[in-house]
Amino acid sequence: MDTISVADARKAEAVGKAVRLRGWVRTRRDSKGGFSFVELNDGSCQGNVQVVAPGELPNYEAVVKHLHTGASIAVEGEVKASPAKGQATEVLASKLELVGDADAEAYPLQKKGHSFEFLRTIAHLRPRTNTFGAVARLRHRASKTIHDFFDERGFFYVHTPVITASDCEGAGALFRVSTIDPDSPPKAEGKVDYTKDFFGRPAYLTVSGQLQVEGFACALGKVYTFGPTFRAENSNTPRHLAEFWMIEPEMAFYDLSDNMDLAEAFLKRIIADSLDKCGEDLKFFAERVDKEIIGRLEGVRDKPFLRVSYTEAVDILAKSGKTWEFPVAWGNDLQSEHERFLTEQHFKSPVILYDYPRTLKPFYMRVNDDGRTVRAMDVLVPGVGEIIGGSQREERLDVLEGRMREQGLDPHAYDWYLDLRRYGTVPHSGFGLGLERTVLFLSGMANIRDVIPFPRTPGNAEF
Ligand code: 4AD
Ligand code: MG
Repeated sequence: MDTISVADARKAEAVGKAVRLRGWVRTRRDSKGGFSFVELNDGSCQGNVQVVAPGELPNYEAVVKHLHTGASIAVEGEVKASPAKGQATEVLASKLELVGDADAEAYPLQKKGHSFEFLRTIAHLRPRTNTFGAVARLRHRASKTIHDFFDERGFFYVHTPVITASDCEGAGALFRVSTIDPDSPPKAEGKVDYTKDFFGRPAYLTVSGQLQVEGFACALGKVYTFGPTFRAENSNTPRHLAEFWMIEPEMAFYDLSDNMDLAEAFLKRIIADSLDKCGEDLKFFAERVDKEIIGRLEGVRDKPFLRVSYTEAVDILAKSGKTWEFPVAWGNDLQSEHERFLTEQHFKSPVILYDYPRTLKPFYMRVNDDGRTVRAMDVLVPGVGEIIGGSQREERLDVLEGRMREQGLDPHAYDWYLDLRRYGTVPHSGFGLGLERTVLFLSGMANIRDVIPFPRTPGNAEF
């Protein structure tokens, strides 16, 4: 007898097989005919399998008739073609064991729908809900596709450090990593003496693996990193997390236009695989979360992304006749309201914005000949806004040092990074895709806290 998943037990091919199944009870219904239906889910797929538990089971009265939502069980039986509508199969149990009971009164997940806000307070149990199961499977699929996509194109996966001394984005939104006793820190000249700290210097959680991955790109050609990143920004928005996962490819000898081509092919591939392989979960999102989701994904998969300069975008926004919460002017950063107007109302398409003012973007972006703009690119998609940020990198040593000083950074602190420009410098480019923004986009979910297993946001680090 094979132990199979609910996903496999639901397939018509399984009919006639003797199988063992294990999972959690979603519901139990007792029939007047002296048997019970148990909806069993094991997380392998969106759907449940219906277990028919006959009254002849020796533990029928003592156990089966007391099975509660949330209890874990093991079932042995035969897969049968189901007479019921909407399911190909059901399992006629010859044995049903209770593995772990769940108190019916106390179990926080009752049959009725719960708000996503409530489910965040039980983040350890929410994977058992339909929505979070679907999110988890979609997130897995996207991650798998990401590795496949790069592997097929000859990229190498590089593991960049989580602990770093450099502020990649130069934005100062860093979490400190320290073993100093905050109640009695070592001091020198009245200040905390970080030379006595664990690493002998100030150290932080990384905001991006880019600087390190550039070193590998300038040796192995095409590489990517995929890991957790941390930002201590006090942004309480539905699109920001303090801990999120980012995929950062970096390519030697790529210019901005090569970079855009890659970013577009990459996003399209993630969408195509989700549509091909997560159909049941996407159907669920379309029914319960966002009616438009499948059409929107197909549109982004099939249509070319528009490429529009920052300057043109500002012009469009200024002429739109809209009133903005954040004023539009050349040199101002684009906010979510502007990004979403461009993709959702004006172009009705994903847009790659490029050539942003140098004052808005980090030191590492290549300065254009106009001196005012840098070779930045942001990919904006409907429903989410910015999903990718990237650039061609500044490969000229003197310009790069100048940009660091301009942004109040000490070039000596980045000496190792500047070496890449001292020895065999090459034009190169890369970008960062936020995994949670991607899952938001794929699922139509509204809040980024609901697409990561254990969200970390200002004031929240439970579980
Ligand atoms: O635009 P960002 O800040 O770019 C970088 O970090 C570059 N070093 C990437 C590179 O060129 N290698 O971030 C890239 C993406 C954003 O477009 C967004 O999808 C996501 O990371 N992101 C966040 N996601 C969730 N919460 C946050 N606080 C995020 N900040 C950025
Ligand atoms: Mg960005």
